[in-house]
Amino acid sequence: MNINSRVPVGVLGASGYVGEELLRLLTRHPGASVVFATAESSAGERREGVDLVRIADAPFPRAEIVLSALPHGVSARYVNEARAAGKRTVDLSADFRLSPEAVYGLTEVTRPRVAAAELVANPGCYPTAALLALLPLAQRGLIDQSREVVIDAASGVTGAGRTPKQELLFGEVAEDFRAYAVGNEHRQLPELLTTLAREGGFAGDLVFTPHLLPVKRGILETIHVPLTRLLDRATAEGIYESVYHDEPCVMVMHGGLPSLKDVVHRNRVAIGVAAVANVRRPRLTLITAIDNLVKGAAGQAVQNMNVMLGLAETTGLVC
Ligand SMILES: NC(=O)c1ccc[n+]([C@@H]2O[C@H](COP(=O)([O-])OP(=O)(O)OC[C@H]3O[C@@H](n4cnc5c(N)ncnc54)[C@H](OP(=O)(O)O)[C@@H]3O)[C@@H](O)[C@H]2O)c1
Repeated sequence: MNINSRVPVGVLGASGYVGEELLRLLTRHPGASVVFATAESSAGERREGVDLVRIADAPFPRAEIVLSALPHGVSARYVNEARAAGKRTVDLSADFRLSPEAVYGLTEVTRPRVAAAELVANPGCYPTAALLALLPLAQRGLIDQSREVVIDAASGVTGAGRTPKQELLFGEVAEDFRAYAVGNEHRQLPELLTTLAREGGFAGDLVFTPHLLPVKRGILETIHVPLTRLLDRATAEGIYESVYHDEPCVMVMHGGLPSLKDVVHRNRVAIGVAAVANVRRPRLTLITAIDNLVKGAAGQAVQNMNVMLGLAETTGLVC
């Protein structure tokens, strides 16, 4: 592809963990050209050969599409500036995930809406892995909504962003493992419930407990699903296979369970299924894995950008 035919892209928050991943992907993308990238405390530095400018100096008119990896609560203002300048946008923060103004960009589920969207709200990392596993069961009425779905998830420390925090110091996290946001109060719970209801007709309860895993990147989720009828592993795997066999970014495990090494540095969710013995009512255990910075953030944003621009969906991505 000729450099002049590349789509000009602007990146907001390019010095954060997610923004840097975006820059890594976009500077190697054959159909995109990064025309500006912003930072706050790191303005004036260079990343991936791109000069970081202050957000007040962002030349929005030069871009055709703007991707925002700004913090939650900061992003909406600048996404709206980009929109006011007539730019299509993908927001990787949580600011528009529950907003009717945006299309929720869970690519495999909302692809036709993403293609036509002016504003895409890129899903959270925990929800992406959980929703791709739960929606096929919810859509088929296989989840017993009189009992809770329980999600126990563990994330590497990049999930918390680069801003220094005492509880994320090496001396605090190394060789330790702990839960946080216990009591079903994590801020991504409404996103999970809203999307399960809208896309899967699920109206039951979900109990979500995240944990901090002392690795740099990657999320593993163990999802306990109460079923309306007995499903053996092969039948459950067959459901996932029928839904995802043409999806390059979803890996259905056959007879095995995923671990982080199946997904890190890849734009992929891996889903494994285990039958549950020794219980009186039917249930299934799902294990899902995702790289929080790739399919959980920057990679899915590029996937959505490709869909919006009519490019091949996995251009510039390793699934
Ligand atoms: N980390 C993940 O796994 C993950 C996954 C999915 C979604 N997300 C979402 O993606 C977004 C970025 O996350 P992150 O982990 O990359 O965060 P981060 O490492 O803290 O990076 C934040 C970025 O925003 C810039 N910034 C901070 N405050 C600003 C302000 N007031 N005005 C302008 N720029 C500002 C920072 O610039 P300086 O560093 O130069 O100060 C940096 O480039 C967040 O909304 C987060 O919720 C994160």
